[in-house]
Amino acid sequence: MKIEISHSRPAETKADLLALPVFEGELPAAPKGAKRASDPLAELDRALGGDLSRAIADEQFRGGAEATLTLHTGGRLPFGRLVLLGLGKRERYQTEGLRHAAAAAVKAAGRASAKRLALPLPGAADEPLEARAAAEGALLGAYRFDRWRSEKPKRPSGPTTLILGAGSPKHEPLGEAIALAERLAEAVAWARDLVNEPAGQLTPRRLADEAQRMARAHGLRAELLGPTAIRRLRMGMFLGVAQGSAEEPRLVRVSWEPRGAAARERPLAIVGKAITFDSGGLSLKSSENMMDMKSDMAGAAAALGAMRVIAHLRPPFPVHAFLGACENMPGGRAYKLGDVLVSRRGKTVEITNTDAEGRLVLGDVLAYAAETKPAALVDLATLTGACIVALGRWTAGAFSPNDALAEEILAAARAAGEDVWRLPMTEWVKETLKSDVADLRNSGERPGGAIAAAHFLSEFVGETPWLHLDIAGPSFLARERGYLPKGGTGMGVRTLVEWVRGRAIAKGS
Ligand code: BES
Ligand code: MN
Ligand code: ZN
Repeated sequence: MKIEISHSRPAETKADLLALPVFEGELPAAPKGAKRASDPLAELDRALGGDLSRAIADEQFRGGAEATLTLHTGGRLPFGRLVLLGLGKRERYQTEGLRHAAAAAVKAAGRASAKRLALPLPGAADEPLEARAAAEGALLGAYRFDRWRSEKPKRPSGPTTLILGAGSPKHEPLGEAIALAERLAEAVAWARDLVNEPAGQLTPRRLADEAQRMARAHGLRAELLGPTAIRRLRMGMFLGVAQGSAEEPRLVRVSWEPRGAAARERPLAIVGKAITFDSGGLSLKSSENMMDMKSDMAGAAAALGAMRVIAHLRPPFPVHAFLGACENMPGGRAYKLGDVLVSRRGKTVEITNTDAEGRLVLGDVLAYAAETKPAALVDLATLTGACIVALGRWTAGAFSPNDALAEEILAAARAAGEDVWRLPMTEWVKETLKSDVADLRNSGERPGGAIAAAHFLSEFVGETPWLHLDIAGPSFLARERGYLPKGGTGMGVRTLVEWVRGRAIAKGS
């Protein structure tokens, strides 16, 4: 999808479909008292001989968030179809609403096989931010995973050209905002593809190869280590999980390394959970609970997607992404209940549930990442069902003992339009991880399960400022919502990029 900027008035924009964002209560047919019946709407209504206000009244369209109204213009305007996109009340407007509206516009264009989609920006927030949100929503909303369908869908998933209607050309140039949106959308789509790819295809080795291929294409460094090297690193927890599978594990590091003095700055480190399939191991999941477990590497996909954008931001400090990729499988070689694993840091762990595998792999990889002495360390993991129970399907949980880092990540998520909510690391929950035979056990009790998992991870990061994002819910959806598709969503890519971007800007680059 090509993105263009237009400064024409909506009623004079040449396109196949014009999608006009409107605020609730600001429509021509709205009850008296609602004053701001904005000009573009009035002009469109006049050109349509009052058909627009009649349709608004007939359909009782009020412009509520995510509501739409479609009209054929019958040749009376330079576009064949007009779609009104409800944004909800002006007072509650955030650019995130525009992302969803843009996705609705793109889907309407796809259904109508409209090639040129015009989308005037509402002009109710900072214009580059609106342009970026609209472009992101449009590009992300057009995503489709149809690799494994022999018959591709007949209708396109969106238009070939998106024309963003901006204010006067005097205003800020929007090219940079749109270029960032395009980079982000490409990276998110790639992360979604990795998550959606069946586990039989995307094995740990394949995931590592994909990481390496991406790194080469974008000027990053990649390092892939196999079982022998992982053994040499004494990652007993990682190896314990990996040993039940016929597929070899891989430890992957992808790095942005700036030249000159910046190379000696403290790095940022990202760790992504990379279980390419989680059967539960000997604590086997039910079929129902196992069904979507190809998505248990969504944290890794987010980390890699973010690195792909970071490569082009060129921050003035190194950024490393680490993945411990393996499968969690039952079988003759699988790790057993009651086993004691010795972690890289030396702590011993009694296995009380082989389905609590993510924290084991992450523990060793976090310890390894912390050895690079990062200024901050963030991990993303589809870690617990308990986090979905706590926050619902659409919100990620953030855990950190470090208030400053938590504020920083929450602000980045808000700016990026991703839903993240901080959860506490209640001290008492840690007690549930006490073991009679080893330093720790890997699973406690059901209450506070997401908190216990965060406490487990915290045992392996030492003094490094660290934050854990549990993305079990929002990384993989059972049904689509706005620009978020069914299946892999790429959750985390945008927050990570915003975080690194913020740090780069703060350093004056
Ligand atoms: N990968 C799962 C968590 C998960 C569940 C992700 C549902 C996405 C959707 C994780 O490895 C797991 O199995 N966690 C257990 C932990 C328990 C055994 C302590 C869980 O949440 O039940
Ligand atoms: Mn599991
Ligand atoms: Zn898992």
